[in-house]
Amino acid sequence: MKRTVVLKVNPLKPRLEIIRVAARIIQNGGLVAFPTETVYGLGVDALNPKAIKNMFKAKKRPLDNPPIIHIADKNDVYMLAKRVPKKAEKLMKTLWPGPLTLVLERSKIVPDITVSGLDTVAIRMPKHKVALSLIWESKVPIAAPSANLAGRPSPTTAGHVLRDLDGRIDLILDGGPTRIGVESTVVDLTVDPPQVLRPGGTTYERLVKVLGDVQLHPAAIVDRRIKVLQARSPGMKHRHYAPRAKLILVEGSSMDKIVERVQELINEFADEGKKTGVLATEETVKRYKADVVRSLGSRKRLRTTAKGLFSCLREFDNDRVDIIVAEGLPLKGLGLAVMNRLRKASGYKIVKVED
Ligand code: TXA
Ligand code: MG
Repeated sequence: MKRTVVLKVNPLKPRLEIIRVAARIIQNGGLVAFPTETVYGLGVDALNPKAIKNMFKAKKRPLDNPPIIHIADKNDVYMLAKRVPKKAEKLMKTLWPGPLTLVLERSKIVPDITVSGLDTVAIRMPKHKVALSLIWESKVPIAAPSANLAGRPSPTTAGHVLRDLDGRIDLILDGGPTRIGVESTVVDLTVDPPQVLRPGGTTYERLVKVLGDVQLHPAAIVDRRIKVLQARSPGMKHRHYAPRAKLILVEGSSMDKIVERVQELINEFADEGKKTGVLATEETVKRYKADVVRSLGSRKRLRTTAKGLFSCLREFDNDRVDIIVAEGLPLKGLGLAVMNRLRKASGYKIVKVED
């Protein structure tokens, strides 16, 4: 067991002394959790194979699911990637720093273990003062998966990180809750047209505006379990975002029909003696009768639903509910990322209601 130290940092104006403590740990091959605009990352030196191995171990992450490499200077892309297509440059120019990860052909400088032996590498430049200055002071690219135990919801506060990784990592930089709340959008630029492998903080609509033609990989938008024959993004085939309770997702285009079906399901589980939870929205929260009812925010501002998603799922665990029934949201804007996480969290236990 390590002793995990937690240091508070001002997210807007981090003190250099604190960042340097963290940077030294990274340079010595240690593990530092830090905030980004999306979720907390678990950072290690991307070019140090031993540090990478320790990161996989600390997270209990399968070795075949590589982390994202974080940079603070756009020029570093040319060191980590063999070829940078024009479309990638366009995205870097307009959307970096930001919640967008680019998959590119990898250069020889990147160790095998960092990319799980793939011939591609996932790179992003986060939009967060703490993350950027940590990378800068470390003087190395930082590989950082989300700072949760594998399979658990991603952490959006330092408390979430501590809960999962206390005693397993060296340091947590506590910069308060993260702004966006879901992970970055992962776009594959080794194919043309580029393809979204994971919907996230940068909306599909935004990518279309910048690039014109962008496709959504089928696995990113499915509503049932499919066999991904050749998982281009290894994360596609792993179980994800799961709270301890069982989760059922109710989808449909009519809000009233959804509410009705959610309540029916809750009543059935309550009759079986189960402790029940509803994941509702501002518009519907007052209409339910269950042991715990939580609102994700307004259906009209899907951004707010992303922000609270992972902490809501973790809070249901604290309440020790047996079953969560969640309302489906519109598949637009940040709603696409939220629904992707909820569908995975449900293990594709999805109930559809018709108009
Ligand atoms: O917002 C985020 O992206 C956060 C913060 C910390 O930056 N990071 C994050 O990392 O979510 P992680 O490791 O939890 O998710 C990385 C995703 C996984 O789905 C992984 O399979 C995919 O990126 N990925 C990594 N390298 C890849 C590659 N070469 N090709 C395709 N997908 C890749
Ligand atoms: Mg993750």
